[in-house]
Amino acid sequence: MIYAANFKMNHTRNSTADYMEKLAKRMSEKSGGDRVMVFPPATALDSYTGDFTIGAQNAYPAVSGAYTGETGVLQLEEFGIKTLLIGHSERREIMGESQEAVAEKFQFFCSEGFEIVYCIGEPLEVREQGEEAVTAYLLAQFEGIDTRYKKLTVAYEPIWAIGTGRSATVEEISRTHKMLKSHVKCALLYGGSVKPENIQEIAAVDGVDGVLVGGASLEVESFMALVTAGKV
Ligand code: PGA
Repeated sequence: MIYAANFKMNHTRNSTADYMEKLAKRMSEKSGGDRVMVFPPATALDSYTGDFTIGAQNAYPAVSGAYTGETGVLQLEEFGIKTLLIGHSERREIMGESQEAVAEKFQFFCSEGFEIVYCIGEPLEVREQGEEAVTAYLLAQFEGIDTRYKKLTVAYEPIWAIGTGRSATVEEISRTHKMLKSHVKCALLYGGSVKPENIQEIAAVDGVDGVLVGGASLEVESFMALVTAGKV
C-alpha cells in the first residue's frame, strides 16, 4: 500500500520539521513494505531523513527563470525532491488550472524524470448523472497525459468526498477503480475523507493500491493509525 499525506496549505516549516521527526521514528518502528509519501507546503520543503518520500504539492514547468512566485526544478532539486503532485482538484477548481496546463506540467516533469502522483476526480453533479458520465469525465482528465509513464501513480479523488467527511462508498470506489484499472496500469490511490475509521474497508477494495489523505494526515498519530491499519 502507498500512504500519501497531502498537507495542502497547513503546517509551517517548524511544525513540518517536528512532524517529520516523529514520522521517521514511527516508521523505523514499523515493519512491512508499505510506502509513505508526504507533500508539505512549499515553504516547508527540505531534505528530511526517514523512511518516506517527500514530494511537492505543485511546481511550475521550468527549471528556473522569470516566473514570479513559482517553484521550479532548481528549487526542488536543492532538497533532492523528485516527486510531484499534479492535477489536484483544488488546483484545477480554485486555481483554475486547465487540462491543457495540467498536461503541460505533466509532460515537462516527465521529461525531468520526476515521479508523478496525478490526481483526477469528478464533481458531485457529474456523479449524480451516473456511471457513464463519471467515466467520460475521468477519462477526459487523461487528455495529454502519458498513462504509460513508468513513474506514474494515479489518485482518484471524487471532489464531493474531499474534506467533506463523506468518503465514497466501497461500492463506488470499487466500480470506479475497476473502470480506471482497465485504462491505466499504474498504482491507483483513492482519496477523499480517508480516516482511521474507514481505512480498513477502503484498503480492502480490489484495485485500491493506496490512499491520498488530507485532513487525517495532519497529525502524525492519525496518519500512522492509517498506515498501520491498512491492507495486510
Ligand atoms: P481529505 O483530502 O482527506 O481531507 O478529504 C484529500 C485530498 O484532497 O487529497
